Amino acid sequence: MIVLGIESSCDETAVALVNEKKEILGEALLSQEEHKAFGGVVPEIAARSHLEHIDGILEQCFAKTNTKLKDIDAIAAASGPGLIGGVIVGVMTAKALSIALNKPFIAVNHLEGHALAARISNNVEFPYLLLLVSGGHCQILVVKDVGQYERLGTTIDDAAGEAFDKVAKMLRLGYPGGPAVEKQAISGNEKRFTLPKPLVASTDCNLSFSGLKTAVRKIVETYSPDGDLMHADIPSQDVADICACFQYTVTDCLCKKLTRAIKYFKQKYPKGNHLVVSGGVASNTYLREKLQQLATDNELTFAAPPIRFCTDNGVMIAWAGLERFRKGDVSSLDFKPRPRWPLDMDAPKAAGAGGVKA
Ligand code: KG4
Ligand code: ZN
Repeated sequence: MIVLGIESSCDETAVALVNEKKEILGEALLSQEEHKAFGGVVPEIAARSHLEHIDGILEQCFAKTNTKLKDIDAIAAASGPGLIGGVIVGVMTAKALSIALNKPFIAVNHLEGHALAARISNNVEFPYLLLLVSGGHCQILVVKDVGQYERLGTTIDDAAGEAFDKVAKMLRLGYPGGPAVEKQAISGNEKRFTLPKPLVASTDCNLSFSGLKTAVRKIVETYSPDGDLMHADIPSQDVADICACFQYTVTDCLCKKLTRAIKYFKQKYPKGNHLVVSGGVASNTYLREKLQQLATDNELTFAAPPIRFCTDNGVMIAWAGLERFRKGDVSSLDFKPRPRWPLDMDAPKAAGAGGVKA
């Protein structure tokens, strides 16, 4: 069984071919550079860029593999949530291939791509506890099975990656902000500034990062007497210290809420034994190390996809498509791309029952 996966929901145009043995038969990915000048992803530019590059990326993928179009059993596309212009490009490409090859189309929830990514690289069995941290989402979930999620907590405002990006922008470190902040933090003192930990004392598993971002802005303002953040003159050691404090605080908030979630998970799902992290922020080595420790302290096995499968990629979409396909779950060709698509409300047939049969 071979599934072609297409990802185009943010600023990566990516495709991959994956089989049931978890082998990656082909892969191509383009990270859009056009957004750097704006300090964030511009949806219209992203959509145009996906449209311009999707055919070339598919050609690149097939040029490097022995797999032919005719060998594919199904075509999966990230069909939401995400920037709708880009999502439409991927979905329409997948539907066109589905019609031309007479093979099923599978609408994959982008978040499900992240949620199942650790199952490709690590032997993670259901149920598992998942921290999903990306540029648009920050959630703690129990992954019970493909398409079956129990959400234990979510951010009530900014996503973790969004906070990294905003802090990087304030410090003029460029986009995407996460890797830049992580790099600076290595030489910083994480105890120098005390930043707030919103919601950390609340008894649920929800998170909040917007106050943390505001606290960083207030520090940056002290270096810019005229109030213009873009001209703040911050010594390089201070930039490193701010980054280290920010990274420490985000990680600590995540670990505190996960500690709560682990208690619940172990009680309700005694057979579960994995703590998994995924999404772009899961590339952060500092966070990975703290989560590894948290898992060990709680007698869980820690699993994280290799860094290149944490940020958006085609492999995770192909794999999630394959997991759905082998359960017989395919989508109708009249499936409408979804700008919003909560993972825990995704009944197995929500993507549209019937349609092309496997
Ligand atoms: O999963 P992803 O590629 O796209 C979304 O689905 O949002 O995540 C991108 C996010 C960006 O906010 C980026 O700054 C963050 O992941 N990120 C990181 C790191 N690498 C990427 N955040 C912290 N540390 C990193 N090393
Ligand atoms: Zn993503």
